[in-house]
Amino acid sequence: MTSKSDSEILTRVGPGTPMGELMRRYWLPALKSSELVTDGDPVRLRLLGENLVSFRDSSGRIGVMDHRCPHRCASLFFGRNEEDGIRCVYHGWKFDVDGNCLDMANVPPHQDFKHKVKAKAYKAEERNGVVWVYMGVAEDAPALPDIAATLIPEDEANIAFAQRECNWLQSMEGDIDTSHLNFLHYGSMGQGAFEPNDETRFGAIHKDPEYHVRDTDTGTMYAAYRPADQGNIYWRFAHFLFPCVALAPFKPFDSYRMARIWVPLDDTHTMFVTIGPKDGPGESPIVDHLLPNSTDWLGRFRCAQQFSNDYEIDREVQRTGSYTGIEGIHQQDQAVTENMGAITDHAWEHLAPSDQMITATRKRLVRAAKALAKDGTPPPASRDPGAFALARGGFFIAEKGRKWPEVYEQELAAVQGTTKAAAE
Ligand code: FES
Ligand SMILES: [Fe+2]
Repeated sequence: MTSKSDSEILTRVGPGTPMGELMRRYWLPALKSSELVTDGDPVRLRLLGENLVSFRDSSGRIGVMDHRCPHRCASLFFGRNEEDGIRCVYHGWKFDVDGNCLDMANVPPHQDFKHKVKAKAYKAEERNGVVWVYMGVAEDAPALPDIAATLIPEDEANIAFAQRECNWLQSMEGDIDTSHLNFLHYGSMGQGAFEPNDETRFGAIHKDPEYHVRDTDTGTMYAAYRPADQGNIYWRFAHFLFPCVALAPFKPFDSYRMARIWVPLDDTHTMFVTIGPKDGPGESPIVDHLLPNSTDWLGRFRCAQQFSNDYEIDREVQRTGSYTGIEGIHQQDQAVTENMGAITDHAWEHLAPSDQMITATRKRLVRAAKALAKDGTPPPASRDPGAFALARGGFFIAEKGRKWPEVYEQELAAVQGTTKAAAE
């Protein structure tokens, strides 16, 4: 069971909280590049409980800063994005993307102290269609993490954002909980509903996998395993990567390039960011079911199927066809996790052997957050962005008798050998 104090640590992400400080040691994907237009409208966004404003200046650089003007706290959302800076409309002070005050327009030149004033700005970088933000000390920012999916060129990538109205942890835990797949998503599908050679059919035949779990340099990982045919084993591997990334086994291991990132907007809202190849299992159904963005702090990428309309559940379809009666895999997850409560009360849970990855991941997160709070120990891989490149999820079938974790290491070595050869 997760104690009340550990639950608090796990779920609170505001400034000064142990998990909030941990999250501020990593880059977080915050916006699509396409949301920011040169000299265009500033965008409101909330990240880790902070209300921010983002804009792209005349030179294409990205600013992400506290929305409050450091003069008298007027919101820079109303600012004029002009000539390489944002100008507050209250008294005309102007700031560049690094927060430097360029102009103190309402103060006579001899009383000007603009070199002493800074807007609170965060470091931002773009990679392949996504804007990443580092909310720690800018000078200490490492390079962006080398998660394989984030290296897919923008025109080959399938990038989707979708907001979830609950805490980040319960959202992310859906991705490291493989046994729900053949209930929530495929509960109505028997073996006959799969193509004869579809390896994932073994999940429908054996809905009660066993698990191996271990800590890694970048987080945690599991192997879920079930019998396949001819005495083989059907393996599914997934990673949790610090601070909020899941490599869920939705694709075959040898072609796996996906990342599912659960960015805390605040304690009760999460932005799901998924990046994968265009030929992957499309996330476009999510995009098809989004409301138009508004300019509210939480107005971006909201799902049309939501609590207020019971996620458009069709009870007749539930009786006769689909297990849930809710259309869309993402929306099925959305319905289940949001309705655990805005922040799941862990005291209600009865964790089972099927939840051992969840247990291990919570422990790893709590340990890291406590160590950082205690003596500043950098959390896992926060200073080693290259380490993330080694993690891979996915499924495969292997002959019986191969042991964990060697079976993973061997398949990984084989795939990386292939990848390297292809690149040469
Ligand atoms: S509050 Fe922004 S310039 Fe005065
Ligand atoms: Fe799911």
